[in-house]
Amino acid sequence: MSINVQNITPVIGAEVSGIDLTQIDEVTAASLRRLLADRGVLVFRDQQLDHAAHKRAAACFGTGELHYHPLATASGSADPAVLTVKATANSTYAAGDGWHTDVSCDPAPIRASLLYMHEMPESGGGDTVFASMTEAYALLSEPVQELIGNLRAVHDGALPWRQAYGKEPAAGTEYNRTAHPMVIAHPDNGKPLLWVNRGFTTKIQGVTALESRALLEMLFQHIESTPRIQCRVRWDKHTLVIWDNIATQHHAVWDYFPHTRHAERVSVIGGELQAA
Ligand code: SIN
Repeated sequence: MSINVQNITPVIGAEVSGIDLTQIDEVTAASLRRLLADRGVLVFRDQQLDHAAHKRAAACFGTGELHYHPLATASGSADPAVLTVKATANSTYAAGDGWHTDVSCDPAPIRASLLYMHEMPESGGGDTVFASMTEAYALLSEPVQELIGNLRAVHDGALPWRQAYGKEPAAGTEYNRTAHPMVIAHPDNGKPLLWVNRGFTTKIQGVTALESRALLEMLFQHIESTPRIQCRVRWDKHTLVIWDNIATQHHAVWDYFPHTRHAERVSVIGGELQAA
């Protein structure tokens, strides 16, 4: 296969053509892993994927071990490795409509997510915005880099329930809560990157509650209000997007209510995060 790559911005994202994701051999998989570490977000158009092919493509990344999302079955999926991401006229929230890293509360977080689009809203919209955490870290001043370099922050799986769904997690449901370093080394290229996100990060350890709130809010705003570290992906039916869930975070824009957008996500886990 001869792969063509067109950057979306100089900083993040690439449109990749000349590849059929049902036919990835080991050489192609190694090229895609390098490209993902370099660009953070890869967009593939016109792919024909069933669940088996979707999962085979995902297994080329991270440890190769698929992630089982606690909400996969509740999302309507018959396969626990496939998460349904769907918003309709009956939805009171849309999954991913807020800046986040996928399930960063896990001790060994998702390394890469692969989202495959089945239906786009007829109104248009439904884009996803991604941000590079390598660049987010690089743009911080040296004193702030030093300040956060030795700190850890708690990521709590119950937070999306409270924030997005406006309720407590269902009784008896346990979600992971993990303290990760705030600055981690990218597992492939060792580059330092900022690892806090509004979707899951609740508290910085070892500082006062006021300091934690103020510092986290400053970092969240830095990520969300710096367009030069971001790219915006426009989807079509049968687009598949792979994102490096360690080096990026994203926001799925819910601007198409009451229309329907329907996709499926398969994710693959990585190892425990290492401080930079
Ligand atoms: C997600 O956060 O996994 C969903 C992203 C999207 O719907 O674009």
